Amino acid sequence: MSITAEERKVLLRSQQGELDAVRMYNALSKVVKDPRDAETFRQLSAEEGRHAAVFKAMTNEVLKPKSTKAIVIPLLYRLIGKKKLYPLIAKGEYDAVKKYEPVAARFPEVESVKADEQRHGDTVLALL
Ligand SMILES: [Fe+2]
Repeated sequence: MSITAEERKVLLRSQQGELDAVRMYNALSKVVKDPRDAETFRQLSAEEGRHAAVFKAMTNEVLKPKSTKAIVIPLLYRLIGKKKLYPLIAKGEYDAVKKYEPVAARFPEVESVKADEQRHGDTVLALL
C-alpha cells in the first residue's frame, strides 16, 4: 500500500511514541513498590514493543527511543504517588486510542494496537 508523506509522518510519530512507551513502562516497573504493578508494567512495556514493531513494518525505519518519559514518569511516581499518577498514564492510553482511530481506519493492522491501548488504560486504572 502506498502512503502519503503526511501519513508517513503520522506513522513515524506513532512508532516513536510506542518506542518511548517501552522505555517508560520498563523504567516505571523498576521503581513501583507493588510487585503486581511492576509485573503489569513489564507486560505493558512488552506490548508497546509489539506496537512499535507494527509501525516499523509500515515505515521501514529504525528509530531510537527517547528517554524523557522514562525519566519523568518514575520521578512523578515518587513525587505525586500512584493514586495521582496512574490516572494520568491511563489518560495517555485513552488519548492514544483517539489518536489511532483515523490511523486504524486507513491501516487495519493498527486496529489491534488501538484495542490494546484501550485495555492498557483499563489495566492501569485497575491497579488503583
Ligand atoms: Fe502502544
